[in-house]
Amino acid sequence: MDYSKEAILINTQKKLVNHLPRIGADKVKDEILAGLRDFPKYISPKFFYNEEGSELFEQITKLEEYYPTRIEKKLIATISDNIPLDFYNLNIIELGSGDSSKISLLLNQIPEYVLPTITYFPVDISQSAIEKSEKLIAEKFSTIHIHGIVADFIHQLNLIPKTEKRLFCFFGSTIGNLTIDEVKKFMTALGSEMQKGDGLLLGLDMIKDIAVLERAYNDSEQVTANFNKNILNVVNNLTGSNFNTRDFEHLAFYNQEKRRIEMHLKAKTDMVITFNSDTEAIFIKKGECIHTENSHKFNIDSIENISVWADFHTEIIVVDKNEWFCLVYYKKNK
Ligand code: TRP
Repeated sequence: MDYSKEAILINTQKKLVNHLPRIGADKVKDEILAGLRDFPKYISPKFFYNEEGSELFEQITKLEEYYPTRIEKKLIATISDNIPLDFYNLNIIELGSGDSSKISLLLNQIPEYVLPTITYFPVDISQSAIEKSEKLIAEKFSTIHIHGIVADFIHQLNLIPKTEKRLFCFFGSTIGNLTIDEVKKFMTALGSEMQKGDGLLLGLDMIKDIAVLERAYNDSEQVTANFNKNILNVVNNLTGSNFNTRDFEHLAFYNQEKRRIEMHLKAKTDMVITFNSDTEAIFIKKGECIHTENSHKFNIDSIENISVWADFHTEIIVVDKNEWFCLVYYKKNK
């Protein structure tokens, strides 16, 4: 994460502004310690994404078992066959844009002469991701305007320029990684940011056969396991702790009642975790779990339920033939 950097970088086609507040190292450490002292223990999923974590995540999206990215990309690549999007003068805002490979698939469908009327606003917490995607999009689509925003889009939606005619994109079923409470806050904030006629394209992973769901988070190459365990390396760096990733087992299972995949790290032995200064040690018992992430799954009812908080109506739902993943196109009512 590039929390401490502040940068403004402007040239003719590309603009980038970093809005992240500087978060003190002490605050981060306190936040991590509070989770480790809680019962059950947890670590916030935002600590997955150091350089190694981002690299492993990229690999996850290419795994045979991890179907969501593959299906979603197919749905995006044919979106204009299914959703009548009016691209002329459109401002496209992508929340959590990552490497911008998904938006490329959408931009591919826009006629050449319309591209100069488009502005693309990638929003991501990682400055390096924004820089890379600006470069990539500028190379592929030389006439569109790009305005990168480095921000935490869950809490900083107010930073998004209030232009006319906006299409928000929130892919990857990332909304499923939020708690119900966070979804409510996020959708309420998004609803009040958006104006009548603005649209939202939301990617959602659907409830399906449990074996398929569990396989997606327990790949045979252990990439997801390594991704999960890498959070301990990040915690070691941030707090001076002595976690050893080999002392933990990756655990990912579907919680049917809560309709979500849960990821945990399960201790293989009793251990004492120490920290760099005069911080009290933490004891972890063999078999104890640290909760690291949730990935909620959705159905037709949840599509409607989500929209209520934002005052949206559902225009179109596009699904693959197995109904494993869907793209919902919502529009703001007033
Ligand atoms: N939002 C996606 C999902 O929940 C991608 C993702 C986020 C993910 N964190 C993950 C995938 C951890 C695997 C492991 O599926």
